[in-house]
Amino acid sequence: MIVVTGATGNIGRSLVGRLLEEGVPVRALTRDPARAGLPVRTEVVRADLTADTDLVPLLGGADALFLNLAAGGGESAQRLIDAAVEAKVPRLVLNSSLGVTDTPDDETNFISRSHAAVERAVRASGLEWTFLRGGNYATNALGWAPTVRRDGVVRDPHPGAQGAPIHEADLADAAAVALLDRAGTHVHQVHRLTGPEVLTNAQQVAAIAEAIGRPVRIEQIPEDEAAEAMAGPHLPLAAARELIGLFGRTVDAPVFPVTDTVARVTGHPARPFAQWARDHAADFS
Ligand SMILES: NC(=O)c1ccc[n+]([C@@H]2O[C@H](COP(=O)([O-])OP(=O)(O)OC[C@H]3O[C@@H](n4cnc5c(N)ncnc54)[C@H](OP(=O)(O)O)[C@@H]3O)[C@@H](O)[C@H]2O)c1
Repeated sequence: MIVVTGATGNIGRSLVGRLLEEGVPVRALTRDPARAGLPVRTEVVRADLTADTDLVPLLGGADALFLNLAAGGGESAQRLIDAAVEAKVPRLVLNSSLGVTDTPDDETNFISRSHAAVERAVRASGLEWTFLRGGNYATNALGWAPTVRRDGVVRDPHPGAQGAPIHEADLADAAAVALLDRAGTHVHQVHRLTGPEVLTNAQQVAAIAEAIGRPVRIEQIPEDEAAEAMAGPHLPLAAARELIGLFGRTVDAPVFPVTDTVARVTGHPARPFAQWARDHAADFS
């Protein structure tokens, strides 16, 4: 049985489906089982990972844990790691970030620092681990959906920012492989996962317009305005500013190289952004 945190989220929902397809029992953690909308075969368990409750019972009998920082943040992650040790869960697959570089640069921004800290805690735990360092999630483009639906506009500070957006289904497929890996091939491995091609934000917007069959205009806005819109419970305003600044540095500059890790780990090529846009056309329509 596999315990999935963030089970109703972008990666988690896809991962739960994938594991069930493989015939593997899944315990999906969510703050609200009534709204989870997960397949009936899923064991859906209520858990607020930021609450001061014992996490060990959530993990009893698990063969592996999928740990996503989106579900409660770094402190919850540390408590879950400790609980996994106590519950004798042999394996943990961490949804980390391509921002982690194993260099002093990791201390220079919130994203790298927070994921690197959890990676260190996992390494120190003695559990079998796999780190999925994904970068530039295609789902970031969902932040554009409300204004695309309302006005056919994307307001973005850096239309020329570049990345290699990765489909959540590719992250989920890679996670499933690592969680179910009987041979131990993926144990103590760091997988750096990207989408298949480098695109600017403007090119992503064009792919979305193509997928929904309507024109979408880009309007450039100041960095501060974008940071305020991006900040939220798990992303302080200062961190949002850092992130927007990092995106800005990818304009007309080399970006993280595209990796072939999705293909190597999952056996299928990484899904292109155009496919992601088609898969999510309803979100923008
Ligand atoms: N965006 C990027 O480009 C990028 C790049 C590298 C790494 N990452 C990593 O990927 C993560 C995002 O993954 P994702 O897109 O799959 O996440 P997501 O869609 O935002 O899913 C988060 C899920 O976590 C659950 N959750 C939130 N607070 C919780 C709490 N207190 N207790 C229990 N569950 C809670 C929510 O489920 P319920 O509402 O059902 O409780 C939600 O569905 C980021 O946080 C970051 O660590 C992102």
